[in-house]
Amino acid sequence: MKLGVLILAAGQGTRMKSAMPKVLHNIAGKPMLAHVIERAQQLHPAKIVVVYGHGGEQVKQQLSSYDVQWALQEQQLGTGHAVMQGMPALDSVDKVLVLYGDVPLIQTDTLQHLIDASMETSIGMLTVRVDEPHGYGRIVRDEFERIIRIVEHKDATADELTIDEINVGIMAMDRSELTAWLEALNNDNVQNEYYLTDVIDMAVNDGHVVASVQPHSAEEVEGINDRVQLAKMERFMQRQLARQLMLQGVTLMDPERVDIRGSVRPAEDVTIDVNVILQGEIEIARGVCIGANSVLKNCSIGENVTILQNCVIEDAEIGSNCTIGPFARIRPGTVLNDGCHIGNFVELKNAQVDCGSKINHLSYVGDTTVGRNVNIGAGVITCNYDGAYKHRTVIGDNVFLGSDTQLVAPVTVESGATIGAGSTITRDAPADQLTLSRSKQVSMAGWKRPAKESS
Ligand code: UD1
Ligand code: CA
Repeated sequence: MKLGVLILAAGQGTRMKSAMPKVLHNIAGKPMLAHVIERAQQLHPAKIVVVYGHGGEQVKQQLSSYDVQWALQEQQLGTGHAVMQGMPALDSVDKVLVLYGDVPLIQTDTLQHLIDASMETSIGMLTVRVDEPHGYGRIVRDEFERIIRIVEHKDATADELTIDEINVGIMAMDRSELTAWLEALNNDNVQNEYYLTDVIDMAVNDGHVVASVQPHSAEEVEGINDRVQLAKMERFMQRQLARQLMLQGVTLMDPERVDIRGSVRPAEDVTIDVNVILQGEIEIARGVCIGANSVLKNCSIGENVTILQNCVIEDAEIGSNCTIGPFARIRPGTVLNDGCHIGNFVELKNAQVDCGSKINHLSYVGDTTVGRNVNIGAGVITCNYDGAYKHRTVIGDNVFLGSDTQLVAPVTVESGATIGAGSTITRDAPADQLTLSRSKQVSMAGWKRPAKESS
């Protein structure tokens, strides 16, 4: 059986009140359409076709890394019309699964159940009972509980409006039959649209039993039409992601107050305090503690690292047994080897720091190689930028930099050197010597502080 997946994503999404197409709005740091595509991919279909329309170029561009085919629906004339646009690209498949680009949390196993059910009867659909069916298509069943048709809210009678079983919109059917049903569709309804839902009626007339499958929860199949629903689905997804982390051995001080916007690979015995945001690709080794309000993006954290509160770490590698923060900022290109200490109000950028070195207070270290067991005093600055170019600073092993030193790059401090506090270093400092640049201290005897004349 060759499966084709058709994702409907051409709707305008006016209720989002956004210049950006609805399906590009993010859930857990990724466009909602990307979630739908990834879940479809897990079914290993022969083809995935996305029907796009509104803001289509932007959608194609942002999702260009996915192996899908695109079908344009120039005018949004209804879900049935949207499916028609995608069918030519699916002419070689046996079964078509229709998904919505704005229903991002659909579970792959639910879809698999639907496909399996549709194998027996040739057509199947997802339905769910909800407390507030307002706006949805209602599932009309006969006295034997068999589905006989779907009636759209706007076309429903008062009786039909009391039905609480709704059409989620997700269906699976044989391609050849679907093709024939689509040819027979008309737009003779209140909205003058070609309704995909009318194929149910046609299937029943052709003597088919329509299989129905239910999702694990109503949230799984909830569509996103406005930013209130977007926020609700974001929370729902975050709870799932937090639960996964906990089951992998991560202690979350409060699972409601952590945000995962990417993929996190944690080892066991990791502890994450409140209001931590994890973005992009994150790898966290055993025994790591991440303090409150820290933001980590694309980084790997070695064993037993402690990140104290309010740190920002991006595109960096942290070796084992390091201590970072509070209030440290570690910028792209930074690599800390094992056992480093990075303290408060320290900014590192493209700095490679070898084992056991300490930068504990109020420093900027950028474009710098730091050797082993270096002590960088409070307020040390690497002056790496001359207004046009960036230059490197090289600091050898066992160097001691006194507080408030400025290193004017390009410059090298050789191993074992000591730099006196308050120095401005513009030339290389030799190994194992004290180097300092400092004006002589003077005291003036008999000097009087100016004072206001008394009147
Ligand atoms: C549709 C169903 C309704 C169901 C509801 C679930 C029909 C006629 N009705 O209603 O039974 O309860 O979904 O949310 O199918 N789209 C296109 N092109 C179009 C129209 C829609 O690509 O011309 C896409 C949208 O981007 C969206 C999906 O199809 O992803 C559903 O469209 P929407 O307008 O939300 O459908 P409803 O009228 O709400
Ligand atoms: Ca909808």
